[in-house]
Amino acid sequence: MKNSIYDASKNVFLDNIDVREYIQLDRVSTLYKSLKDSVRKPLKMILLYGKPGTGKSMLLSKLHHDLSSTQKVFIYSTPILDDSEFFKSLARDLFDVKYLGELNFTQLMLIVKSKLSKNYKVPLVLLDEAQLYSSEQMEKIRLLSDTRIVKFVITLHKTDKEDIIAKEHFQTRIWESIELKNSSKNELRIYIQKKLMKANCFDSANMFSKNRVNLIHKITKGNYRDTNKLLYTFFNIYSWYCYNDPSAIDSNIASSKIIEMSAIQTGLINA
Ligand SMILES: Nc1ncnc2c1ncn2[C@@H]1O[C@H](COP(=O)(O)OP(=O)(O)OP(=O)(O)O)[C@@H](O)[C@H]1O
Ligand SMILES: [Mg+2]
Repeated sequence: MKNSIYDASKNVFLDNIDVREYIQLDRVSTLYKSLKDSVRKPLKMILLYGKPGTGKSMLLSKLHHDLSSTQKVFIYSTPILDDSEFFKSLARDLFDVKYLGELNFTQLMLIVKSKLSKNYKVPLVLLDEAQLYSSEQMEKIRLLSDTRIVKFVITLHKTDKEDIIAKEHFQTRIWESIELKNSSKNELRIYIQKKLMKANCFDSANMFSKNRVNLIHKITKGNYRDTNKLLYTFFNIYSWYCYNDPSAIDSNIASSKIIEMSAIQTGLINA
């Protein structure tokens, strides 16, 4: 019986991007608000950056979800690395132009020009994982945004802001950058508990006292992805004990020992 609770709790920490699972955390909400404000401003490009696992893709999906009822917005979760395929997708999404053969940048710009009109509403394109685009592609993306016919929000998992800005394509004057960071201890506690409560795993949520969350924070530094990994493994181990040796686990409080075991198993700390 309990076993199913741990299994359900485990699945809460599967690493996937589903906006229905979005959790409001103070700092994230503030950043999200400024992201939404930026999108409304006449900026050409907006940059969302931060270390892996800090929630960039999640925030981008949330933005896509929330804006799609009021404006034209497209999300490219995986970069389209072939130039022609990328331009064809843009032509199709932005201008309803279906192109069968190859489409190069000059041809795309011609399409862009032909679409310029007074009551044109600038669509938004959200490009996730932009570190995978080549500099040549980024340069074309910048040129496109210069036409002001499309606005881009770009995510990068680079952390060094100086380094990003140094790149030529980001030296355009009108852009804004937002950095996502790992969570604080307090935020991590809210993250873990809200995530479990959303899935009706109330008993599991109660297992994470301040003290246990601090231990988790020490291991994951508040990184969301690492926390997911750790807790997925944690509940997997609990579930195993529940089946095989239920007297060995305490269902009231998360065992520090099992948290540490999970950290070793996931490679977050060395044995
Ligand atoms: N606000 C949030 N609400 C709920 N879950 C979140 C939130 N932010 C992050 N997560 C969880 O953390 C995981 C990692 O976040 P995400 O994939 O967005 O990171 P990322 O910054 O895009 O990483 P990468 O640079 O590797 O692409 C997600 O799968 C999601 O489960
Ligand atoms: Mg991502």
